[in-house]
Amino acid sequence: MDHKSLFLRKFLYDEGVDPDLRRLIHTVAVGGKYISSLLNAANRKMAGTRNASAEDQLEVDKQADIILQDMITALDYVAEYASEEQETVIKTGNQHGKFSVSVDPLDGSSLIDVNLAVGTIVGIHPVEELIDSGRHMLAALYILYGPLTTLVFTTGNGVHEFVLSPEGEFVLSQKDIKVKPKGKIYSPGGLRSEWTDAHRQYIDDLVETDYKLRYSGGLVPDFNQIIMKGGGLFSYPALKENPEGKLRLLFELYPLAFLCEQAGGMATNGIENILDLKLEKIHQRAPIYIGSKQEVEKAKEYIKTES
Ligand code: F6P
Repeated sequence: MDHKSLFLRKFLYDEGVDPDLRRLIHTVAVGGKYISSLLNAANRKMAGTRNASAEDQLEVDKQADIILQDMITALDYVAEYASEEQETVIKTGNQHGKFSVSVDPLDGSSLIDVNLAVGTIVGIHPVEELIDSGRHMLAALYILYGPLTTLVFTTGNGVHEFVLSPEGEFVLSQKDIKVKPKGKIYSPGGLRSEWTDAHRQYIDDLVETDYKLRYSGGLVPDFNQIIMKGGGLFSYPALKENPEGKLRLLFELYPLAFLCEQAGGMATNGIENILDLKLEKIHQRAPIYIGSKQEVEKAKEYIKTES
């Protein structure tokens, strides 16, 4: 479809996205603007303008959750809201609810006080299929709060990036983003001493074949760098003491895997595709290898030697 508009709202319309899904994505985008302002306020605090009562304020990730929960659950086509910040799924009771929304309101929030980039991750599922697998997702997006605030989304029709303009609009910056089949950077999560032998050997292989280390410790900026800058591999492996790794399937991995597949890349836990993994509880974790096809396939070869 020929896109006439560079603005997110109209772009979604031109793509023929279901009107309610369009409004839901737009609502999340507006939530992102509020979160971006929160982060600016948090950063000003670092610069010494904190007021006396600031210590009493909620942490920024909790505030981000409240913003998104309030905005998303007010939509009468949203049936469920699941947040990384909360133990259980919130049922809205909305009669016309047809979407379940999973949210990691502010991933990497421990990086805020050192002024590194952080992100919001959102997955949109059909209502009966929240606790299922990632295959039925209708849309996935992340908002990256860096020097620029960007929103990267898919509704199953490619991956597109929008940048928040000074006027407060998300404006198209890259359409149909593609991950190269083989890249040049690696982003290895977790402590090396906790890695399994197979994983360590694979990372050593990448180092020896001249991959460049790029790791900030923020999933959203680290993943964003892989897909925007020529491909490569982000990994957070099974750890010796924690075979499920650290990252959460519903809140972090399904949405990024959907985006990555839509951009022509791959995501696996070392054995199965991330989107095919069965979710049994909302806070379930899984190892992940995500990025360019070639690197992800190679990860599977290494992990196979372990079983
Ligand atoms: O899920 C939280 C998170 O901060 C991710 O954003 C990031 O990828 C990961 O944890 C970093 O973990 P580690 O410090 O163990 O590498």
